[in-house]
Formats: sequence, structure tokens, C-alpha cells
Amino acid sequence: MNEGLATVSYIGATILFVLSLGGLSNPETSRRGNLYGMIGMALAVLATIFGPRVGADGYAWIIGAMAVGGSIGIYAARTVQMTQMPELVALMHSLVGLAAALVGFASYFDPTSHLLGAEKTIHEIEIYIGILIGVVTFTGSLIAFGKLNGRIDGKPLTLPGRHWMNLAGLLVVIYFGGVFIQSPSHEQGITALVVMTVIAGLFGIHMVMAIGGADMPVVVSMLNSYSGWAAAATGFMLSNDLLIVTGALVGSSGAILSYIMCKAMNRNFISVIAGGFGTGGGTAAPKGGAAQPAGEVTPISSVETAELLREAKSVIIVPGYGMAVAQAQHTVYEITKYLREKGVNIRFGIHPVAGRMPGHMNVLLAEAKVPYDIVLEMDELNDDFPKTDVVMVIGANDIVNPAAQDDPTSPIAGMPVLEVWKAKTSIVMKRSMASGYAGVDNPLFYKENNRMLFGDAKKMLDEVLGALKAG
Ligand code: TAP
Repeated sequence: MNEGLATVSYIGATILFVLSLGGLSNPETSRRGNLYGMIGMALAVLATIFGPRVGADGYAWIIGAMAVGGSIGIYAARTVQMTQMPELVALMHSLVGLAAALVGFASYFDPTSHLLGAEKTIHEIEIYIGILIGVVTFTGSLIAFGKLNGRIDGKPLTLPGRHWMNLAGLLVVIYFGGVFIQSPSHEQGITALVVMTVIAGLFGIHMVMAIGGADMPVVVSMLNSYSGWAAAATGFMLSNDLLIVTGALVGSSGAILSYIMCKAMNRNFISVIAGGFGTGGGTAAPKGGAAQPAGEVTPISSVETAELLREAKSVIIVPGYGMAVAQAQHTVYEITKYLREKGVNIRFGIHPVAGRMPGHMNVLLAEAKVPYDIVLEMDELNDDFPKTDVVMVIGANDIVNPAAQDDPTSPIAGMPVLEVWKAKTSIVMKRSMASGYAGVDNPLFYKENNRMLFGDAKKMLDEVLGALKAG
């Protein structure tokens, strides 16, 4: 393939990536968006392999690497549970960071490169920044992976004087950047590069260790953004325009997602990065453990739940992480279909950080074939709760916690929540009184108009469906 054809293919792939991102912003067009992305990526890979910069002697390496990488990818995609997706994503970001760092070192020692003067300096700045971003992404993502799968404690590590340590690290990195660029030989330059790599690695570890569990979603999308910038830096080092554009697309969309999630959790982006959230104070209960009893709860049976649903004219379903764990989405759809046929106005309320990854609930509901037009965002439906007869909260906890509005000392104070307690009756389905992800008690459970349907969400919903059909 000649240079011209490779460039045209790259432009085609770029357009397909932009269309893909556009498509993924809406459930109805997301399949098409995925398809565009897949075609774009196939085009990009083929144009690179058969492009002018890969010789025939490189094919064996490429095929070998693709076979190994592809097999691991297929295995991971088949075995990973939906709820483990954020960990998998964090692990993948770490690989992007590692690749950027390795490309940086390889590029520095490339024997075929004979750049001089300003071009050499610019290339070395690209290498330095590329390795810096790559290593921060690599170690930060590994720690995020460890925290998300519970191998590393979710509590924030708050070392004394940590901001000063970070600042000192930054100054040392800038100083060695100067040393690196002025080094007359590779032997001298490599010392500066290694010092910076070690500091960047420690910084990545420290940055994510300092961030508490409740802020992890933002961290994962922030690392997603970093991995994009690391890929863009790799593109600069390899003079590959497509990689620069793709990296910038991932980098900026990750940054936008981080911003949206910060807004959804009422967190300031800078304070998320500064870490320390959830260190104490407030009424935090141990994560996953039983929260302090703060009143009496009123249990309800599945038959009584079915009766309430049958009498209701309007119903809102609020799904959360527990629905994903129980894989209850198909039964939820069966109940929805049944009630819709009986003329009940039934809708879904989706919180932006429900579950464990952006769009988690939308994906599950789409998989169960719930029509998109009854799946609404929090803002679209929060005013409708007072006019609603029954709200079914299925395995959700933090996203329906009134303490976010009422208790300024709560760790989730200020986070926008679905105001389910304003409905005539709310029914919370969960297995116990355990707290949710943020580890805080939920006063909703003790409200007079709230009922608790204890049990596994799938099992209880099967019973509710059975009772509805029997009645
Ligand atoms: P959570 O607050 O984590 O609550 C989920 C509830 O589901 C738990 O209290 C649990 O109670 C229940 N549950 C678990 N397994 C169940 C099962 N098999 N059947 C029935 N219930 C079950 O979830 P949420 O309300 O969706 O809120 C999301 C939280 O995760 C937020 O704090 C958010 O910040 C955080 N987070 C979000 C993301 C993204 S991007 N969405 C990523 C990481 C973290 P029991 O144990 O008593 O059953």
C-alpha cells in the first residue's frame, strides 16, 4: 500500500471513529456506533500493517503479537462478568500506558533515527512527555484495578504533606526534563529518563492510592482520558497521525465523561484528584457491612408488592448495582411488559452513576429489550415522583439516599439523588440492611411510606411476577 492510500485510509478511519463516538452517545444509535468503531479500527490496523512503514520482515512479529493479544482479549471478554468491567477497563488502560512508555524508550534508542537540532529536541520532548504520561497511566491504572477488585484497600491513603511531595516530584521531573534534553549522549540521557520514570511511577501509585472508594468511577474515566493522551503521545513519537487523532478523541471524551460524573456526584474535579475523600467524619458505615440501625423498617412480601403494583396507575423503577449482580433485568422487563399491557404508566429512572460503570443500567435494560423511550435520566424524571404511586428500587442504595440532601455531614452530601421518597410508596429490594458502595446508612429505609422487600432481586422479582400473573 503506498503512502497516499494509507493516508486516505487513516482519514476514513478517523471519520469512522468520530461517527462511532457520536453513535455511542445514545442507546438507539449505539449499535451503529460500535459498528463504525469496529470498521474504523480494522481499517486503521490494515492500513498500518500494509502501509509503507512496515516491511515484510515485520509481518511474522505482528501476526504473532496479534494472535497472543487477540487470544487474551477473547478469553477476557468471554469470562469477565459485567460487574467486573471497570476492573478490566482499568487493566486495559494500564496496558496503553505501558505501551506508550515502551515506545518512548524504543524511540529514544532507535538506531535508524538521525534527527538533529530543533527536530531532535522536539522529538526528545515528545519522548519525555510520552513516557511520563504513559508511566503515570500504567501505575495509576494498576492501583485502580487493585482497588476495584478489592485486593487493595479502598480507603484513601493520606500521607502527611502529600501535596508537597507531589509538588516536589513535579519540580524534579521538570529539572530532569532539562537535563535529558541537553544530554549530549544516550548514556547520559538515560539516567534522567530513568529518574523521571521512577518518579512518574510513584506519582501514579500515590495519586490513585490517595483517592477514596467513592471517587473511583471518576478516577477510572480520568485514567481513560490519560490513556488517550498517552496514545496521542505515542502517535507523536511514531509520527503516526491516526494515533494522535485517536488518542486525542479518547483523551478528550474521557475528560468530558469525568466532568459529567463529577457533576453527577457533586464532586469538584480538583478535589477528586487531590484525594482524601471518605477519610472519616460523616456517618460512614463499614463498606458492605451492616449500617447502624437508625429506626424501624417495614418489610413487605412479594405478594403484597404485586398487589400494590396492580393497583398503581404510575410506577417508576430505579435500578442499581444489585440488579446487575442478581441479573434481574429480564424479570424486570417481564413485569414491565405485564404492567404496560394493563395500562400502567411505567418508567425507569437512571442515575448517572448507578451500578459500577457509566451506562451500566442502560446496557442491562437494553439487553433485556426494555424500550428506550421509557428509560429516563434522573433530571428528566425527578419532578415526577410526587405524582407516582409506586417506586420500585431494585438493588440501588446510594443513588436514592436522602442524606445526600438532608445531612451536610454525610460523605455523599450534595450528590444529586433520585427523590424516590416523594412517591406515595417506595419499595426497596435488597438482601439485607447492608450499606452500598459509599458505605453510608440510608434514611430512606426507615421512612413511613417505604417498604423493604428483602431477598435476592431476581428471586423476589420472579415471585412478584408470579403473584401478578396469579392475581
Ligand atoms: P450501591 O449503593 O452500591 O447499592 C447496591 C445495593 O445492592 C447494595 O446496598 C446491596 O444491598 C444490593 N444488592 C447487592 N446484591 C444484590 C442482589 N443480588 N439482590 C438484591 N440486592 C442486591 O449501588 P447504586 O445505588 O447503584 O449506586 C452506585 C454506587 O456505586 C455509587 O456510590 C457510585 O458512586 C458508585 N460507583 C459507581 C460507578 C459508576 S460509573 N456507575 C463506578 C464505581 C462506583 P444488600 O447487600 O443488602 O443486598
